[in-house]
Amino acid sequence: MRKCLLVVALTAAVVASAQGLKDVVGHDCLIGVALNEWQCAGQDSATTAVVRRHFNCAVAENCMKSGPLQPQEGVFRFEQADSFVDYCEANGLTATGHCLVWHSQAPAWLFSDGKGGLPSREVLAERLRRHITTVVRHFKGRLRGWDVVNEAIEDDGTFRRSPLYQVLGEDFIDIAFAAAHEADPDVELYYNDYSMAVPAKRDAVCRMVRRLKERGIRIDAVGMQSHVGLDYPDLAAYEAAIDSFAAYGVKVMVTELDVNVLPNPWGFSGADIAQSYELQQRLNPYADGLPDSVQRQLTQRYADLFAIYRRHRHQLSRISLWGVADHHSWLNGWPVEGRTNYPLLFDRNYQPKPAVERIMREWNMAPAASVSGGARLGHGEE
Ligand code: XIL
Repeated sequence: MRKCLLVVALTAAVVASAQGLKDVVGHDCLIGVALNEWQCAGQDSATTAVVRRHFNCAVAENCMKSGPLQPQEGVFRFEQADSFVDYCEANGLTATGHCLVWHSQAPAWLFSDGKGGLPSREVLAERLRRHITTVVRHFKGRLRGWDVVNEAIEDDGTFRRSPLYQVLGEDFIDIAFAAAHEADPDVELYYNDYSMAVPAKRDAVCRMVRRLKERGIRIDAVGMQSHVGLDYPDLAAYEAAIDSFAAYGVKVMVTELDVNVLPNPWGFSGADIAQSYELQQRLNPYADGLPDSVQRQLTQRYADLFAIYRRHRHQLSRISLWGVADHHSWLNGWPVEGRTNYPLLFDRNYQPKPAVERIMREWNMAPAASVSGGARLGHGEE
């Protein structure tokens, strides 16, 4: 009984004295957010107040993708990305780069031979090396790590038939990681993807990690994007994936966490940004506000997720939310334009949701048992 009271008192003291998530979760791993260029331009004081209080790291939501960085061949535009890194340094945030090689948000020239076809093997390999070398060298010493390759594997465990794969096969992954390491031997290198709780995908990512390591190519961590919903993925499968990746000798990172609270009736989850659906009223039920009952589900979902992270803190190096406050979230526009979503930890007035207090209160409590029960895997995955 006395022990129990002591735990309650200590927990209350932690919550009362803590300044934010970074003072609790941040003792065990980095806790961060994705930021956009306007937030780094220095005029968004509300965002900065939340960021400074709660987070100790950040990732660029868009401005470090290959399209923005090299819109034309040989023409590099670093202004916005520089401003992101400056912002991180000014606000005590460890910065991560996202992402060097991805089939999406890439400039059209990258995958073109100029005649309507794909470039040759040599040309594409050289373009990748040049992009990676220039970009990684530019930020050398200022970033902790890079998402080197993003979303190379499908949910069924096969390689995505992107132009990268069509031209170079899986060699593009080796080329990318090797070039990044050569450009900055001190920077950490990550593979990042969604739906990582799906066993076929998870196992394919493990094979990729093993292959890189067998070839002596550096990879430090696997990023689980974690674009999740209130009822997907199955948490036992999600938790198992953390152990699976860690068993291959890499750290695990939660890189793009958000919890979609809106209906998802089109039969897929994941985070393929090429998906797009027409807006219908029934898909946008909370345009006038989030009902308390759904807020409670959201709180519980975040509590369940962070209970997993707490149990696996020795394997996790970072947890990053994909945005600061709800109105910043890409989920207001994807996969249906014009919805009102509530996926993040801070509301449209920059106020912490009940989930924040719950996460902070529970982080230092004695670890609970793992999520039990068989994996209930359908299409509904992270
Ligand atoms: C999203 C951004 O949040 C949007 O602003 C942009 O329009 C599209 O891309 N997986 C990723 C991220 O790795 O880069 C994507 O970010 C979301 C899915």
